[in-house]
Amino acid sequence: MTAQNQPSTDRVTKLTDIRWRREIPLWLKSEKLTILAEIGVRDGDHLHSLLKSNPEQMVAIDLWKDDGVLGHNDALFNQEQIERCYQKVCRLGEQHSCLEIYRGLSAEIAPHFSDGHFDFIYIDADHTYEGVCQDLELWWPKVRRGGVLSGHDYILRKNPKGLVFGVVPAVHEFIGRHFLQEQFYCTWPDEQPGNWFIRKT
Ligand SMILES: C[S@@+](CC[C@H](N)C(=O)[O-])C[C@H]1O[C@@H](n2cnc3c(N)ncnc32)[C@H](O)[C@@H]1O
Repeated sequence: MTAQNQPSTDRVTKLTDIRWRREIPLWLKSEKLTILAEIGVRDGDHLHSLLKSNPEQMVAIDLWKDDGVLGHNDALFNQEQIERCYQKVCRLGEQHSCLEIYRGLSAEIAPHFSDGHFDFIYIDADHTYEGVCQDLELWWPKVRRGGVLSGHDYILRKNPKGLVFGVVPAVHEFIGRHFLQEQFYCTWPDEQPGNWFIRKT
């Protein structure tokens, strides 16, 4: 059994206790962070995990469309496969009244929410450098003071379809530009790909 597959424990109480992505719901509960969003949902695998923290509001945003842009569809799924992912998330919506599903580009949906609305936002959408830079700037204002902006794929590599992950340089430039180095935490290199977190103080 790898460390990543070990059963969950209740040891996660603060942000820097998080070692693996599956521990995020425990930490959300311990901090009573209940207004959540995930940007980039696909078939709802991680969304399902976030819902275990019993959020008050869970906003799920995804394009669910093969528009020919690799950053928007880095698994190169066809529209039929994408539609199946969307239907799976809709079924989650039927089971969880807190879940609000938005189908569209992150940049189109962000203006629907007021600044400081969210306790926690998780970005796992367009992993290109440009895509991550855009999402960081779009969603940072939507996090309340004391809340956390976070995301996946903190790793330097190409995905099997040739997309170069730009998460690491984009996040580092962002925290440098906004003087957020002390509020930054990541699970890399223990977890690969890692998860990154920035607390808004
Ligand atoms: C890696 S998958 C998300 C996986 C999911 N977070 C999980 O771990 O279960 C990336 C998703 O982001 C979506 N996406 C990519 N760029 C987007 C954009 N600009 N706006 C909205 N969704 C986007 C894609 O449609 C895809 O479903």
